Amino acid sequence: MNSKTVRTEVRPAGTGDLEWLKANDVHAKTDLFPDWEWVRRCIEQRLYLIAVADGTKRGFLRFSLHWGAIPYMDMIGVDDEFQRAGIGTMLLRRWEEDMKAMGAKIVMTSCMSDEPEPRAWHERNGYRECGSVTFGRLQTVPEVFMEKEL
Ligand SMILES: CC(C)(COP(=O)(O)OP(=O)(O)OC[C@H]1O[C@@H](n2cnc3c(N)ncnc32)[C@H](O)[C@@H]1OP(=O)(O)O)[C@@H](O)C(=O)NCCC(=O)NCCS
Repeated sequence: MNSKTVRTEVRPAGTGDLEWLKANDVHAKTDLFPDWEWVRRCIEQRLYLIAVADGTKRGFLRFSLHWGAIPYMDMIGVDDEFQRAGIGTMLLRRWEEDMKAMGAKIVMTSCMSDEPEPRAWHERNGYRECGSVTFGRLQTVPEVFMEKEL
């Protein structure tokens, strides 16, 4: 996909995006919050950005706040056939700008240590590894945390 062929806008998600997010943000369905309750909450709390390319939704970013203080990008995803067209970078930049405007000095994210591609992408966007942890039986592969000063 050539970025020149795609006109992209990034905007906060609204209730009209619920069905699309259910189909695309599959990791947001957890046992703790059945019936996509977490997605509904994140929409309400404006914790989602949506990328619309040539009029069609093609990507999203979901975040939360570590300690209620440090913006943490939980998930970013771009449709397979629209990757490498600049859409992920647009989502990330818009999020960083919004967080900076809110007063954030630092943002963070994470990815699994066996996922070199997203890790390289984050590094390319200025994120630096700041530690890794495992989560008992839930995740034995280390999760690598990355931070960026705004
Ligand atoms: C990671 C992801 C969000 C990046 O979004 P994207 O829209 O494909 O990325 P962009 O087009 O904005 O990237 C811009 C630049 O990064 C480069 N790039 C893209 N994917 C890359 C990767 N996996 N590793 C390294 N560089 C990458 C591109 O080559 C491009 O550079 P160029 O313009 O000089 O060629 C997207 O590929 C994705 O959804 N991947 C699957 C889900 C995922 O892994 N999410 C992260 C979970 S931690």
